[in-house]
Amino acid sequence: MSFSIRTRAFALAGSAARSKGCPRALRPLARFNHHHGAAASPPNTDNQPKTGVQPSYGPIGVAAALKHTANGPTPSPTLFKDEFSLADRVALVSGGNRGLGLEMALALVEAGARAVYCVDLPAEPCEEWLKVREYAAQMAGKAGAGRLEYVSGNVTDQAAMWKIGQDIGDKEGRLDACIAAAGVLKDHTNCLEYPASQFRQVMDVNVNGVLFTAQAAGRQMDRFGNGGSIILIASMSGSITNKDHAWVSYNSSKSAVLQMARSMACELGPKRIRVNTLSPGHIYTNMTAAYLDTQPHLLAKWASLNPMGRIGRPDELRGVVTWLASDASTFCTGSDIIVSGGHHSW
Ligand SMILES: NC(=O)c1ccc[n+]([C@@H]2O[C@H](COP(=O)([O-])OP(=O)(O)OC[C@H]3O[C@@H](n4cnc5c(N)ncnc54)[C@H](O)[C@@H]3O)[C@@H](O)[C@H]2O)c1
Repeated sequence: MSFSIRTRAFALAGSAARSKGCPRALRPLARFNHHHGAAASPPNTDNQPKTGVQPSYGPIGVAAALKHTANGPTPSPTLFKDEFSLADRVALVSGGNRGLGLEMALALVEAGARAVYCVDLPAEPCEEWLKVREYAAQMAGKAGAGRLEYVSGNVTDQAAMWKIGQDIGDKEGRLDACIAAAGVLKDHTNCLEYPASQFRQVMDVNVNGVLFTAQAAGRQMDRFGNGGSIILIASMSGSITNKDHAWVSYNSSKSAVLQMARSMACELGPKRIRVNTLSPGHIYTNMTAAYLDTQPHLLAKWASLNPMGRIGRPDELRGVVTWLASDASTFCTGSDIIVSGGHHSW
């Protein structure tokens, strides 16, 4: 394979920087005309940059600094205004009626998303969800934008999930981000006695339901051609076993989600649809309250299992989901991001 940087995308910008011992400066790359990272480019074509093309608001970072001239406009930071911004994006969040799903949905709205659709089982959203929607609507500068929407749906129903995705696409004209957060955790059940029906139930929600949610959004991302980001909520329990907890179905389901993301990422990369997992450690939500509020000794035990010496709060996942959903992570796909207070590091 020939590799001529001078005649392809990495044309040298000049000799001045080289003469001062700096690395060779590269000309800014071509821009791409939409969100979600560089367009996949065929190899070895003379007019295609090897790293894909710059975002529409590019160049950014060092490339912007090198392009800037002393008499040009005063530079302004792009990191939060552009790369992390979800302005005008549309998202689907399963399990968004409460807990981690609702926390993440609000984070996407705060990052500028035009509409975030929360899909969950109840026919109507809970009081907490309504309060969060009201709060989002009242945020300064958000009048009429940044909607939280509620859709009643069961992630185990593939046809229903695809229809929810289709309806969002028809209404909004795009679908850019998806968080598959719906999940269930059962009581301790001995692995040698584990009943088939209960094992299937957990797999149906935590594995099949995650796939159907990712499909619902991914099909729309493909339809509109803007790329997208799919975030599957796995768990540290997909790669470690929680000490003294008989959770074979939950742990197995989360392992499946880790591999689902890698597999989908490899298929969907050429369409600029990224698929990653987020694996939280112990976070205090209704799911874990079922244990912590009935067996108070577990709080100190779980806290002692990570170097931070505490369990986590749902809001401590706001930054990572915004990063994963946004252009700030356009080269990240097929990855598992562990946010566990260091539980894995002992
Ligand atoms: N809380 C933690 O410590 C923790 C840690 C790691 C991973 N997780 C994962 O994060 C996700 C969210 O958990 P959480 O702690 O917010 O729990 P939660 O129980 O508060 O929320 C889960 C939500 O999923 C919804 N849901 C369940 N089955 C559904 C179905 N069939 N269709 C649609 N919605 C359904 C529930 O109604 C609920 O609103 C889960 O996938 C969970 O496994 C949680």
